[in-house]
Amino acid sequence: MGSSSSPYLMTLLPLLLISVSVFTPQVIGCYSSIFSFGDSITDTGNLYISSHNRSFHFFFPPYGETYFHRPTGRCSDGRLIIDFIAEFLGLPHVRPYLELKSNLSAQNLDGGVNFAVIGATALDVAFLAAMGDHNEYTNSSLGTQLECFKEILPSLCNTSSDCNKLLSSSLILVGEIGGNDYNNPLRAGKSIELLVQTYVPLVIKVISSTIKELIDLGAVTLLVPGNFPIGCLPIYLTKFQTSDETNYYNAMMHFYHSPYQYGFMGGTTKACCGGGGPYNYNSSAQCGSLKATACENPAQFINWDGMHLTEAAYSWIAKALLKGKYTIPSISTLCVSEV
Ligand SMILES: *[C@@H]1O[C@H](CO)[C@@H](O)[C@H](O)[C@H]1NC(C)=O
Ligand SMILES: *[C@@H]1O[C@H](CO)[C@@H](O)[C@H](O)[C@H]1NC(C)=O
Ligand SMILES: *[C@@H]1O[C@H](CO)[C@@H](O)[C@H](O)[C@H]1NC(C)=O
Ligand SMILES: *[C@@H]1O[C@H](CO)[C@@H](O)[C@H](O)[C@H]1NC(C)=O
Ligand SMILES: *[C@@H]1O[C@H](CO)[C@@H](O)[C@H](O)[C@H]1NC(C)=O
Repeated sequence: MGSSSSPYLMTLLPLLLISVSVFTPQVIGCYSSIFSFGDSITDTGNLYISSHNRSFHFFFPPYGETYFHRPTGRCSDGRLIIDFIAEFLGLPHVRPYLELKSNLSAQNLDGGVNFAVIGATALDVAFLAAMGDHNEYTNSSLGTQLECFKEILPSLCNTSSDCNKLLSSSLILVGEIGGNDYNNPLRAGKSIELLVQTYVPLVIKVISSTIKELIDLGAVTLLVPGNFPIGCLPIYLTKFQTSDETNYYNAMMHFYHSPYQYGFMGGTTKACCGGGGPYNYNSSAQCGSLKATACENPAQFINWDGMHLTEAAYSWIAKALLKGKYTIPSISTLCVSEV
């Protein structure tokens, strides 16, 4: 249990173009709660709870079949990276903000709060709409999620020393976020050049300012994952018909290079659940719709639905993150867990 001084910002998959290990405050032992911001990689039910009448395909079986045995609003067959992190830390699965918000107190915080929403962008939705990128899922961008966090904070702590105590003993996940800022324009046919020149610097800026604000509020340990190697995803392979593999990142790349070693017999680029085609991804027959079918054993696949990964893949990423060498420093050196 350390009083050692170490960089507390970690990257799972390199955060696009950001060097994040420049701050070096004190890190204290293990974590009593997790606060999380992000999108469909991390949402454990916020969009599900808020989408009363909307029937997105990921709200239907076989989503959730593996662990929860029902759809939970998670974009996978089972648990997500955040669920495995919580389990590793001996905490309950982090519940969605919308489930907790009406009755939140320091007493029933119970492991933390998850603000992530499927479809969320780093950039403000009104700004993106002005660029022609419309968000069909949510208005809850990173900034909105941060506002929600600041709104609930007074019900969790009153004095600044109280709040510092709470936040410094919490693990804060900032992301993955930003993927949708790129997905939407890419799908609409905007060029990579435009993305790199215009979107990327803005996304980095908003993530950085969010990190700064969280630190100002008292956050000490922030995990800032980079974007996934989206070029490997069936949705992009289907759209761009390319298998360019020059541009992909750390933890996940092990699966793609040695899939059999991890039990991924289903291949690296084909989705488990989908509506056919070379990558089993068809935007007119998405997983969860009646036109799609799922593989027998999702644990043999890296990709679940064309966009998101299987529980098995997320479990490996979480392991790499918690015990491996993909965070600097590794979480296990910060946290001597009894689990
Ligand atoms: C849900 O759908 C019902 C019937 O179609 C409608 O009356 C109701 O207003 C809708 N609720 C919301 C929150 O959109
Ligand atoms: C609110 O939380 C408290 C425990 O912290 C619990 O006793 C109470 O039943 C909860 N109320 C509702 C409406 O869920
Ligand atoms: C986002 O906000 C706008 C304006 O308030 C609203 O019209 C729209 O329905 C919202 N979109 C979603 C997905 O909630
Ligand atoms: C903060 O103060 C308010 C008002 O005095 C009180 O209702 C609330 O329970 C306090 N919250 C905490 C976490 O102590
Ligand atoms: C995609 O799904 C639609 C709807 O089921 C179907 O008509 C179409 O042929 C499929 N495309 C491919 C390439 O399988």
